[in-house]
Amino acid sequence: MKLLKYISIILATAAALFAVFSESIEIDLSVAWLQVVGNFHPLLLHLPIGGLSFVILIEVSKKLGWAKADNCLLYLILLFTSLFASGSFFTGFVLAKQGGYPSELLNNHLWCAAVYVCFLALCAVLKQRTIGGEGRTWFYCLSIIGACVSMGLTGHYGGLMSHGDPLAPLFFEEEEVVEITRPTEELLVFKEVVHPILKAKCYSCHGNGKTKGELSLNSYEELLKGGKEAGKTLIPGDEKSSLLISSLMHPMEDDKHMPPAKQTQLSAGEISILRWWVSAGAQRDITVADAQAPSEIVIAVTELVPEEVRQRREIERLQKIAHKKKKAKIQRIALNKEIKKKVPGNLQPMLRFVSPYNADIHFSSVSQQGQFSDADFASFKGIDKHFTAVDLSSSSITSATIKALSACQSIHSLRLANTKISVADVAQLSKLESLSSLSLHSTEINSTALEYLSKMKSLRQLYLWSTKVTPAEIAVFKKNHPEIQVIY
Ligand code: HEC
Repeated sequence: MKLLKYISIILATAAALFAVFSESIEIDLSVAWLQVVGNFHPLLLHLPIGGLSFVILIEVSKKLGWAKADNCLLYLILLFTSLFASGSFFTGFVLAKQGGYPSELLNNHLWCAAVYVCFLALCAVLKQRTIGGEGRTWFYCLSIIGACVSMGLTGHYGGLMSHGDPLAPLFFEEEEVVEITRPTEELLVFKEVVHPILKAKCYSCHGNGKTKGELSLNSYEELLKGGKEAGKTLIPGDEKSSLLISSLMHPMEDDKHMPPAKQTQLSAGEISILRWWVSAGAQRDITVADAQAPSEIVIAVTELVPEEVRQRREIERLQKIAHKKKKAKIQRIALNKEIKKKVPGNLQPMLRFVSPYNADIHFSSVSQQGQFSDADFASFKGIDKHFTAVDLSSSSITSATIKALSACQSIHSLRLANTKISVADVAQLSKLESLSSLSLHSTEINSTALEYLSKMKSLRQLYLWSTKVTPAEIAVFKKNHPEIQVIY
């Protein structure tokens, strides 16, 4: 027992030291068992949460007179909780070294975890003192509160890293999935890159009504107009004669150096952006991509956004993707339940989910050939809107099924070879806006069907052999629709 107590204190001290020196501690991750140790973090971390919650519950119950509990037992639980916490700290430390976690969150998680481990060791020591009746309970209470708070924070940061914000579903709107920031290449060079630099570094003397040296930099027109030396501030294409650039390049002690010495100076990246813009013609309404900015300029523009903002945006972007995937998974699980409930058992194997991350379904009745009928297809009502690829070749379906199919706008591939499909049915199918591949070989359709097919904007592949369409008719169709590959 005594030994365990000392181990717990030593481990807690070590955890604190590991947190302080976390950056300089190197771990050789090529060692396989060390990787395994890291993998156990998600398992171990739940034990100290359970342990501490249990102790708090018992202590509160005791205080309220609901239960009696032996201090010795509580001490034992705290001692083991503290050992588990150290275990999860060190496994977590190894896992973190494997990389791939956002550094700011990780750092917060690490520090809170170290504090948590220390508080738990302290709780155990203080509890042991109360066994003999000499310890002060308020001191013990404080350390339990400390452990509880640090546990909450550790869990919060850990959760944010691996599961995202738990409240996100409340605020999540579908449209937000689109990029929240535009890529550098799409930015307007003057309005969104150059002008903000001038605004940040020059406006205090040359903007918003201030015109030191008779120069205002409020707008593109005013840049061209210039200051005391009229028309000399910006001379498109001539970086050397433009005062806008030369004033930045004068030595710092020179009075002509801009911004004046005591002001916040431009970064090397900002200077290179301004120089490039002026020498490339200083166009007003052009994007970074259209201006064909060299890669070092694109990098400099990207770096204008502070590192932590970029990191935060990246985390937000990844969290949104994770959330979208999770939502799709939930949708898929619900759909699976619906299938189990609605679709007869012998027909269920005809459905196949395409990916774990969406609810797209491939459907094929080929195993039942002619036995598969309209009545069978009707049992997929409601589920069929998730169909993306459908194979009904050689089945005995008729217009009723075709009508149902024509409402399934997710379908991009449809096989109806060797069925009784008619020209009127093809007319129905021409409503399918995403259909790109259609197989109609070995059917009775004729050239009238081609008229309907030519209305289908997405169609790219068409299988037509053994039909009543003649080679001459196909030749004309192919000429009018070079985008469609006709196989016959
Ligand atoms: C703290 C005030 C201050 C800031 C900030 C400042 N300037 Fe000036 N600037 C002046 C003063 C004062 C003059 C007039 C100097 C003179 O007349 O000799 C001047 C003159 C100029 C001129 C010469 C105009 C002409 O036609 O003679 C240019 C160009 C210029 N500044 C560009 C800039 C740019 C670009 C920035 C930002 C990167 C900037 N300045 C920031 C105070 C400032």
